[in-house]
Amino acid sequence: MKKNIVVLGTQWGDEGKGKIVDLLTDRSDAVARFQGGHNAGHTLIINGHKTVLHLVPSGILREGVDCYIGNGVVVEPEALLTEIAGLEKAKVDVKSRLKISRAAPIIMPYHIVLDQLRERAKGGKAIGTTGRGIGPAYEDKVARRGIRFGDLLEPQRLKEKLTETLEYHNFVIEHYFKETPLDFDEVYQKALKHGEQLKSMSADVAAQLHRLQSEGKSILLEGAQGSLLDIDHGTYPFVTSSNTTAGAASTGTGLGVTDIDYVLGITKAYTTRVGSGPFPTELFDDDGKMLAKNGVEFGATTGRPRRCGWLDLVALKRAIQMNGVTGICVTKLDVLDTFENIKVCTGYKVGNEVFEDFPASAEAWENIQPIYESMDGWMSKTQGMTSDKDLPTQAKALIEKIESYTGSPVHMISTGPDRNENIIIQNPFE
Ligand code: GDP
Ligand code: IMO
Ligand code: MG
Repeated sequence: MKKNIVVLGTQWGDEGKGKIVDLLTDRSDAVARFQGGHNAGHTLIINGHKTVLHLVPSGILREGVDCYIGNGVVVEPEALLTEIAGLEKAKVDVKSRLKISRAAPIIMPYHIVLDQLRERAKGGKAIGTTGRGIGPAYEDKVARRGIRFGDLLEPQRLKEKLTETLEYHNFVIEHYFKETPLDFDEVYQKALKHGEQLKSMSADVAAQLHRLQSEGKSILLEGAQGSLLDIDHGTYPFVTSSNTTAGAASTGTGLGVTDIDYVLGITKAYTTRVGSGPFPTELFDDDGKMLAKNGVEFGATTGRPRRCGWLDLVALKRAIQMNGVTGICVTKLDVLDTFENIKVCTGYKVGNEVFEDFPASAEAWENIQPIYESMDGWMSKTQGMTSDKDLPTQAKALIEKIESYTGSPVHMISTGPDRNENIIIQNPFE
């Protein structure tokens, strides 16, 4: 059955989106990325062989699946070319299958410089960005001075736009940050070269996705980051600079909201976060260390250790609501195999006040204490399981708890990093 499915993260990223997108490509014709940039790191493991993708959609390892980078994605050409070269070296045909929206904003060298200078200037109050220029590139888009992919293909237009934009940013770099301004010719020539190198992949992605639709093809829309990193709905200002929630699948590709048939919310059986910002269920004890160790929790993009903690059902419920999640995919269940007790957060406390709602403002996040419900662990191996009938009763209880608290059904469970380590309760395509 033809279906367009959004796959997105319901926490702070790294929920295992890439693995699930790759898995679901067995039933879809195309994968489109709709937001974020190469701040993302999506890990695919197929028969033990690992591939980490940053900008290239997680459909690339399945032959015959077309891949699209939508207008909502910020593209760093150098990073994309390096990623393509790496894949082609591994005998993956990318250039004939990847299409990039001409409306996608380009991450320029000054965006990267500004991202890093700002983070440095913030000292202890830094966001902990990936330093990839994501925020400054989105700012330029919204300020209507951004360079788009299409501009790289038009030398005269690029020259005019870049002259204005670079003058503006160089002023800040030189006079505010007291650093060396960037050289126009160097930036311009490099951008032109990138345009030449990527030209054959340029496309009107919205038009192509609508054509696929009219041919009865299924499209997967691959989210990056997670719902709690959403620029509007996340833990602002400790967020990324794009909308990571389901609405962006439409604005970031040109598909209509009513073209989306199903939203799959990828949810780790616990929680991780990279970078700064509130994290009520964060653990600093042996349980936290065991989550990090069992889950191998290191950033796929920056290699930073991920902060680890228990599953936060209050935050998850909000994510489920704001994405209109149809079904949940619980990932990394196997990471809990060695825990005697497992906790889930079912409310928050500030002083003596108890509440069950996601805090409305960033300030309200500051003094939050989690209220936990303790559950029995199963202390046996679920890793690699493919049938829900084999699940220990305690694991079933955890899944039921997630369903009853959030009001959303669990349709899939991931039991290991490999493509074939899954329990599919209800296939989103059915
Ligand atoms: P993404 O950014 O959401 O695509 O997730 P990442 O790839 O950054 O991080 C998820 C990590 O967990 C990767 O190393 C995956 O290989 C791994 N992973 C995904 N699903 C599972 C699972 O069910 N069990 C285990 N143990 N690892 C998993
Ligand atoms: P995937 O797609 C986890 C975090 C950064 C930082 C904040 C802002 O692999 O889930 P940015 O560079 O975007 O301006 O940084 O967002 N962050 C991620 N954390 N997974 C990601 O992507 C992330 N992309 C950005 O660590 O806290
Ligand atoms: Mg990741």
